[in-house]
Amino acid sequence: MKIFLDSADIKEIERYSHLIDGVTTNPSLIAKTCNQRYSEWLDTIVHLVKGPISVEVISSKCDDMISEARKISEIADNIVIKIPMTEEGLRATRALHDLNIKTNVTLIFSPNQALLAAKAGATYASIFVGRLDDIGYAGMDVVRTVVSVYREYNYPTEVITASIRHPLHVIEAAKAGSHVATIPANVMSQLFRHPLTDIGLQQFLNDWDRFQSGKKAV
Ligand code: E4P
Repeated sequence: MKIFLDSADIKEIERYSHLIDGVTTNPSLIAKTCNQRYSEWLDTIVHLVKGPISVEVISSKCDDMISEARKISEIADNIVIKIPMTEEGLRATRALHDLNIKTNVTLIFSPNQALLAAKAGATYASIFVGRLDDIGYAGMDVVRTVVSVYREYNYPTEVITASIRHPLHVIEAAKAGSHVATIPANVMSQLFRHPLTDIGLQQFLNDWDRFQSGKKAV
């Protein structure tokens, strides 16, 4: 499973750049963290990360989405255009596919929406598991269903498990066969940790100190 960082924060992206395969952003993440001009921010990110970087269009009409997407995608080869899961959005997705521009259809909450995104030729389909869980639905069930449908019909569209809230979502996404998990920095930092690692490391260091001072390990 590929790991993308779900962040628009340059410092977070730098911190995990040795581990991640790509980045996903959205207008809310940019509004929250970007404190420079949008064009400068985008220019920095495309040089920081070699893998795909999803950048969302803000237009809602098909033709406007296409022209916005064409402009953004000219900035770098690794930009993927995030398109909202709407009828207009899927029309734009098809047109961008025909122009060889990669897309990430976002805000997917049901298997049928994911099926349509694949039919429209989306490169990625982002399923928001956390937001489904928040309203009492099993978000990961949607991921499992979509992965099996895409497999059944050999759709090349890759599933991105998005809206990840905790480490369990990450391993569940991997077990479900999701192609990608896009992980926010607060969850990413939790993936490194286990109390037995801390205890074990402390024990090794203590024993080493004892050894250095001529005592046996206990
Ligand atoms: C995905 O690409 C989205 O940016 C993201 O996962 C949304 O997550 P949220 O529900 O935490 O806002």
